[in-house]
Amino acid sequence: MEIIRTIEELRSILKRWRKEGLSVGLVPTMGYLHEGHKSLIIKAVSENDRVVVSDFVNPTQFGVNEDLDSYPRDLERDAALCQEAGASLIFHPEPEEMYFADNCTFVDMENLTKGLCGKTRPTHFRGVCTVVSKLFLIVAPDKAYFGQKDAQQLAVIRRMVRDLNFDIAIVGCPIVREEDGLAMSSRNTYLDEKERKAALILHKSLMLGEEMMRQGERNTEVVKNAIVQNIKTEPLAKVDYVEIVDSENLEPVAEMEHPVLVAMAVYIGNTRLIDNFSFEP
Ligand code: PAF
Repeated sequence: MEIIRTIEELRSILKRWRKEGLSVGLVPTMGYLHEGHKSLIIKAVSENDRVVVSDFVNPTQFGVNEDLDSYPRDLERDAALCQEAGASLIFHPEPEEMYFADNCTFVDMENLTKGLCGKTRPTHFRGVCTVVSKLFLIVAPDKAYFGQKDAQQLAVIRRMVRDLNFDIAIVGCPIVREEDGLAMSSRNTYLDEKERKAALILHKSLMLGEEMMRQGERNTEVVKNAIVQNIKTEPLAKVDYVEIVDSENLEPVAEMEHPVLVAMAVYIGNTRLIDNFSFEP
Protein backbone atom coordinates (compact mmCIF):
# COMPACT_ATOMS: atom_id res chain seq x y z
CA MET A 1 0.00 0.00 0.00
CA GLU A 2 1.43 3.29 -1.14
CA ILE A 3 2.09 6.35 1.00
CA ILE A 4 1.60 9.45 -1.13
CA ARG A 5 3.06 12.72 0.07
CA THR A 6 2.20 15.25 -2.63
CA ILE A 7 -1.07 16.60 -3.98
CA GLU A 8 0.23 16.30 -7.53
CA GLU A 9 1.01 12.60 -7.22
CA LEU A 10 -2.31 11.89 -5.49
CA ARG A 11 -4.20 13.71 -8.23
CA SER A 12 -2.51 11.70 -10.96
CA ILE A 13 -3.50 8.42 -9.25
CA LEU A 14 -7.06 9.66 -8.77
CA LYS A 15 -7.23 10.66 -12.45
CA ARG A 16 -6.27 7.12 -13.44
CA TRP A 17 -8.89 5.60 -11.12
CA ARG A 18 -11.55 7.93 -12.47
CA LYS A 19 -10.65 6.99 -16.07
CA GLU A 20 -11.17 3.35 -15.09
CA GLY A 21 -14.61 4.27 -13.74
CA LEU A 22 -13.72 3.39 -10.13
CA SER A 23 -15.56 4.89 -7.15
CA VAL A 24 -13.48 6.52 -4.41
CA GLY A 25 -14.06 6.72 -0.65
CA LEU A 26 -12.15 9.11 1.62
CA VAL A 27 -11.43 8.57 5.32
CA PRO A 28 -9.93 11.81 6.72
CA THR A 29 -7.82 11.22 9.86
CA MET A 30 -5.04 12.82 11.87
CA GLY A 31 -3.27 9.47 12.18
CA TYR A 32 -2.34 7.46 15.26
CA LEU A 33 -5.09 5.17 14.08
CA HIS A 34 -7.13 2.89 16.32
CA GLU A 35 -10.03 0.45 15.96
CA GLY A 36 -12.45 3.37 15.56
CA HIS A 37 -10.60 4.55 12.45
CA LYS A 38 -10.32 0.95 11.27
CA SER A 39 -14.11 0.59 11.38
CA LEU A 40 -14.41 3.68 9.12
CA ILE A 41 -11.88 2.28 6.65
CA ILE A 42 -13.56 -1.15 6.59
CA LYS A 43 -16.92 0.50 5.92
CA ALA A 44 -15.37 2.65 3.17
CA VAL A 45 -13.72 -0.41 1.60
CA SER A 46 -17.08 -2.22 1.56
CA GLU A 47 -18.74 0.68 -0.29
CA ASN A 48 -16.08 1.91 -2.75
CA ASP A 49 -13.66 0.51 -5.35
CA ARG A 50 -10.75 2.51 -3.91
CA VAL A 51 -10.20 4.08 -0.48
CA VAL A 52 -7.90 7.00 0.36
CA VAL A 53 -6.99 7.49 4.03
CA SER A 54 -5.61 10.95 4.73
CA ASP A 55 -3.18 10.97 7.66
CA PHE A 56 -2.43 14.59 8.49
CA VAL A 57 -2.17 16.38 11.84
CA ASN A 58 -3.86 19.58 10.72
CA PRO A 59 -2.24 22.61 12.40
CA THR A 60 -5.10 25.02 11.70
CA GLN A 61 -7.55 23.17 13.94
CA PHE A 62 -5.36 23.44 17.06
CA GLY A 63 -5.60 26.48 19.34
CA VAL A 64 -2.42 28.26 20.48
CA ASN A 65 -2.12 26.39 23.79
CA GLU A 66 -3.30 23.04 22.49
CA ASP A 67 -1.46 19.78 21.80
CA LEU A 68 -0.33 20.22 18.18
CA ASP A 69 3.32 19.41 18.97
CA SER A 70 2.63 16.51 21.31
CA TYR A 71 -0.21 14.98 19.25
CA PRO A 72 0.79 11.29 18.83
CA ARG A 73 2.19 10.23 15.45
CA ASP A 74 3.20 6.78 14.14
CA LEU A 75 3.04 6.45 10.37
CA GLU A 76 4.41 2.92 10.25
CA ARG A 77 1.74 1.63 12.61
CA ASP A 78 -0.93 3.59 10.70
CA ALA A 79 0.22 2.04 7.41
CA ALA A 80 -0.07 -1.49 8.86
CA LEU A 81 -3.61 -0.79 10.09
CA CYS A 82 -4.66 0.74 6.77
CA GLN A 83 -3.25 -2.22 4.86
CA GLU A 84 -5.07 -4.68 7.11
CA ALA A 85 -8.34 -2.78 6.70
CA GLY A 86 -7.98 -2.80 2.90
CA ALA A 87 -7.26 0.89 2.15
CA SER A 88 -5.78 1.63 -1.29
CA LEU A 89 -3.38 4.37 -0.19
CA ILE A 90 -2.44 6.79 2.56
CA PHE A 91 -2.16 10.48 1.79
CA HIS A 92 0.42 11.86 4.22
CA PRO A 93 1.39 15.43 3.27
CA GLU A 94 3.68 17.74 5.24
CA PRO A 95 1.98 20.91 6.54
CA GLU A 96 3.86 22.92 3.84
CA GLU A 97 2.25 20.75 1.16
CA MET A 98 -1.25 21.52 2.46
CA TYR A 99 -0.78 25.19 3.37
CA PHE A 100 1.21 27.90 1.62
CA ALA A 101 3.27 29.93 4.10
CA ASP A 102 1.11 32.98 3.28
CA ASN A 103 -2.20 31.05 3.22
CA CYS A 104 -5.03 33.44 4.01
CA THR A 105 -8.10 31.55 2.86
CA PHE A 106 -10.26 29.65 5.33
CA VAL A 107 -13.67 28.01 5.41
CA ASP A 108 -15.69 29.14 8.42
CA MET A 109 -19.19 28.42 9.68
CA GLU A 110 -21.59 30.32 11.91
CA ASN A 111 -24.04 28.95 14.50
CA LEU A 112 -23.23 25.22 14.62
CA THR A 113 -19.64 25.89 15.62
CA LYS A 114 -20.25 28.32 18.49
CA GLY A 115 -21.55 25.97 21.20
CA LEU A 116 -20.33 22.65 22.64
CA CYS A 117 -16.62 22.21 21.74
CA GLY A 118 -16.63 25.55 19.91
CA LYS A 119 -16.95 27.40 23.24
CA THR A 120 -13.61 26.14 24.55
CA ARG A 121 -12.04 25.78 21.09
CA PRO A 122 -13.21 28.90 19.19
CA THR A 123 -10.97 28.42 16.13
CA HIS A 124 -11.17 24.62 15.95
CA PHE A 125 -14.00 24.19 13.46
CA ARG A 126 -12.60 26.82 11.11
CA GLY A 127 -9.51 24.62 10.86
CA VAL A 128 -11.58 21.46 10.43
CA CYS A 129 -13.83 22.98 7.74
CA THR A 130 -10.80 24.37 5.92
CA VAL A 131 -8.78 21.16 5.84
CA VAL A 132 -11.79 18.94 5.07
CA SER A 133 -12.76 21.27 2.19
CA LYS A 134 -9.21 21.08 0.86
CA LEU A 135 -9.24 17.27 1.09
CA PHE A 136 -12.65 17.17 -0.63
CA LEU A 137 -11.31 19.37 -3.45
CA ILE A 138 -8.09 17.36 -3.81
CA VAL A 139 -9.63 13.87 -3.66
CA ALA A 140 -13.19 14.60 -4.92
CA PRO A 141 -14.43 11.37 -3.32
CA ASP A 142 -17.88 9.86 -3.90
CA LYS A 143 -18.23 9.28 -0.17
CA ALA A 144 -16.40 10.46 2.95
CA TYR A 145 -16.47 8.74 6.34
CA PHE A 146 -16.49 10.34 9.80
CA GLY A 147 -16.98 8.96 13.31
CA GLN A 148 -19.99 9.78 15.45
CA LYS A 149 -17.67 10.31 18.43
CA ASP A 150 -16.95 13.79 17.05
CA ALA A 151 -20.68 14.41 16.76
CA GLN A 152 -20.40 18.19 16.42
CA GLN A 153 -17.75 17.80 13.72
CA LEU A 154 -20.02 15.39 11.83
CA ALA A 155 -22.98 17.83 12.02
CA VAL A 156 -20.73 20.72 10.93
CA ILE A 157 -19.37 18.77 7.96
CA ARG A 158 -22.84 17.66 6.86
CA ARG A 159 -23.94 21.32 6.94
CA MET A 160 -20.82 22.50 5.11
CA VAL A 161 -21.38 19.92 2.36
CA ARG A 162 -24.97 21.11 2.01
CA ASP A 163 -24.15 24.83 2.10
CA LEU A 164 -21.17 24.64 -0.29
CA ASN A 165 -22.77 22.10 -2.67
CA PHE A 166 -20.06 19.48 -2.37
CA ASP A 167 -21.24 16.46 -4.38
CA ILE A 168 -20.07 14.02 -1.70
CA ALA A 169 -22.11 11.64 0.47
CA ILE A 170 -21.17 11.93 4.14
CA VAL A 171 -21.29 8.65 6.03
CA GLY A 172 -21.41 8.80 9.84
CA CYS A 173 -20.17 5.69 11.65
CA PRO A 174 -20.89 4.52 15.21
CA ILE A 175 -18.57 5.16 18.15
CA VAL A 176 -16.17 2.29 18.82
CA ARG A 177 -15.47 1.65 22.52
CA GLU A 178 -12.91 -0.24 24.54
CA GLU A 179 -14.35 -3.27 26.34
CA ASP A 180 -14.89 -1.21 29.50
CA GLY A 181 -16.81 1.50 27.64
CA LEU A 182 -14.20 4.22 27.04
CA ALA A 183 -14.68 5.73 23.58
CA MET A 184 -11.60 5.11 21.44
CA SER A 185 -9.52 8.22 20.82
CA SER A 186 -5.93 8.92 19.83
CA ARG A 187 -5.78 11.20 22.89
CA ASN A 188 -6.44 8.25 25.26
CA THR A 189 -2.72 7.64 24.94
CA TYR A 190 -2.10 10.73 27.15
CA LEU A 191 -3.80 9.04 30.15
CA ASP A 192 -1.73 7.37 32.86
CA GLU A 193 -3.08 4.29 34.64
CA LYS A 194 -5.10 6.21 37.25
CA GLU A 195 -6.49 8.62 34.67
CA ARG A 196 -7.40 5.77 32.33
CA LYS A 197 -9.62 4.31 35.09
CA ALA A 198 -11.04 7.73 35.93
CA ALA A 199 -11.93 8.30 32.26
CA LEU A 200 -14.64 5.66 32.51
CA ILE A 201 -16.76 8.28 34.27
CA LEU A 202 -17.67 9.78 30.87
CA HIS A 203 -19.38 6.68 29.54
CA LYS A 204 -20.86 5.74 32.94
CA SER A 205 -22.44 9.19 33.28
CA LEU A 206 -23.81 9.10 29.75
CA MET A 207 -25.35 5.70 30.46
CA LEU A 208 -26.97 7.11 33.57
CA GLY A 209 -28.51 9.92 31.50
CA GLU A 210 -29.63 7.51 28.80
CA GLU A 211 -31.33 5.29 31.37
CA MET A 212 -33.23 8.32 32.77
CA MET A 213 -34.39 9.18 29.25
CA ARG A 214 -35.42 5.59 28.55
CA GLN A 215 -37.45 5.69 31.77
CA GLY A 216 -39.30 8.72 30.34
CA GLU A 217 -37.46 11.80 31.66
CA ARG A 218 -37.75 14.53 29.00
CA ASN A 219 -36.55 17.61 30.89
CA THR A 220 -33.01 18.29 29.70
CA GLU A 221 -31.96 20.25 32.83
CA VAL A 222 -32.85 17.27 35.05
CA VAL A 223 -30.86 14.84 32.91
CA LYS A 224 -27.93 17.26 32.49
CA ASN A 225 -27.71 17.87 36.25
CA ALA A 226 -27.73 14.15 37.00
CA ILE A 227 -24.91 13.61 34.48
CA VAL A 228 -22.83 16.51 35.85
CA GLN A 229 -23.29 15.36 39.47
CA ASN A 230 -22.21 11.87 38.52
CA ILE A 231 -19.06 13.16 36.78
CA LYS A 232 -18.23 15.16 39.91
CA THR A 233 -18.00 11.94 41.94
CA GLU A 234 -14.71 11.29 40.10
CA PRO A 235 -11.95 13.43 41.70
CA LEU A 236 -9.74 13.47 38.58
CA ALA A 237 -12.55 14.70 36.34
CA LYS A 238 -13.41 18.33 35.56
CA VAL A 239 -16.47 19.10 33.43
CA ASP A 240 -15.87 21.34 30.41
CA TYR A 241 -19.49 21.00 29.26
CA VAL A 242 -22.47 18.69 29.29
CA GLU A 243 -25.16 19.73 26.80
CA ILE A 244 -28.35 18.31 25.35
CA VAL A 245 -28.97 19.81 21.91
CA ASP A 246 -31.10 19.30 18.83
CA SER A 247 -29.30 16.66 16.72
CA GLU A 248 -29.45 18.70 13.53
CA ASN A 249 -28.95 22.37 14.40
CA LEU A 250 -27.10 21.71 17.71
CA GLU A 251 -29.24 24.32 19.52
CA PRO A 252 -29.90 23.60 23.23
CA VAL A 253 -33.39 22.25 23.95
CA ALA A 254 -35.43 22.39 27.17
CA GLU A 255 -37.80 19.49 26.50
CA MET A 256 -36.89 16.51 24.34
CA GLU A 257 -39.38 16.40 21.48
CA HIS A 258 -37.09 15.69 18.52
CA PRO A 259 -33.90 13.61 18.23
CA VAL A 260 -31.27 15.02 20.58
CA LEU A 261 -27.54 14.75 21.02
CA VAL A 262 -26.26 14.41 24.58
CA ALA A 263 -22.65 15.55 24.38
CA MET A 264 -19.88 16.17 26.88
CA ALA A 265 -16.27 17.23 27.17
CA VAL A 266 -14.48 16.37 30.40
CA TYR A 267 -10.90 16.96 31.49
CA ILE A 268 -9.24 13.94 33.05
CA GLY A 269 -6.12 15.50 34.48
CA ASN A 270 -4.86 17.62 31.56
CA THR A 271 -6.49 15.51 28.88
CA ARG A 272 -9.73 16.74 27.39
CA LEU A 273 -11.98 13.84 26.31
CA ILE A 274 -15.31 13.95 24.51
CA ASP A 275 -18.18 11.48 24.30
CA ASN A 276 -21.86 11.50 23.38
CA PHE A 277 -24.97 9.56 22.51
CA SER A 278 -27.99 10.28 20.35
CA PHE A 279 -31.54 9.77 21.55
CA GLU A 280 -34.89 9.74 19.77
CA PRO A 281 -37.68 10.50 22.23
O1 PAF B 1 -11.54 13.97 13.16
C1 PAF B 1 -10.36 14.21 12.82
O2 PAF B 1 -9.45 13.40 13.01
C2 PAF B 1 -10.03 15.56 12.20
O3 PAF B 1 -10.76 16.58 12.78
C3 PAF B 1 -10.20 15.56 10.67
C4 PAF B 1 -11.64 15.36 10.25
C5 PAF B 1 -9.34 14.47 10.06
C6 PAF B 1 -9.72 16.90 10.10
O4 PAF B 1 -8.39 17.14 10.38
